[in-house]
Amino acid sequence: MRNVTLMDVFTHPIAQKYLQRSGVAHAVACAFHAYRLAVKAGVSPDLAAKAALLHDIGHYEWYTDGKWDYEKYRRNDIHAIKGAERAHKLLIRLGEEPKAAKEIALAILLHTDSYLPEGELDKNTLQQIVKQADELDEEPGGHHHYRQMDHTAALKQIQKLDQLIDQAQYPIRSSV
Ligand SMILES: [Fe+2]
Repeated sequence: MRNVTLMDVFTHPIAQKYLQRSGVAHAVACAFHAYRLAVKAGVSPDLAAKAALLHDIGHYEWYTDGKWDYEKYRRNDIHAIKGAERAHKLLIRLGEEPKAAKEIALAILLHTDSYLPEGELDKNTLQQIVKQADELDEEPGGHHHYRQMDHTAALKQIQKLDQLIDQAQYPIRSSV
């Protein structure tokens, strides 16, 4: 049994606040991709879906005169760091196992390398899955952040994904 469901995470006011900012539709789509990839790879679909759902909650609004300032964003962005921290805090608050919260936070931290120094990191399967799930839902010009999904539709999707995770084929070979 899981201590914390996707529904617990998704409906929390902190998640709602930051998911509205970076795009609910993108977050939900990534969670489904991550679930699918995790089941295929034999790692925990619960951790993968949670990390993918929350991967962009660290975004800051880089606006200049009411317009998205891509250059400012590119130079100053640390959304993966902030997202990892926010997700960890939220998950612990909801009662997530500390080890699971750490794995989810690390996968969020490493879902993009745009802010990291050059070089290859040795990423585990969970971390690769969250990055891949994000890329599968990416649209040119950052359009995936602006795709709309109404709240009722999002809740339905999250509920469906929770059921899929609860029914997922166990044993999972490893959590990450
Ligand atoms: Fe993303």
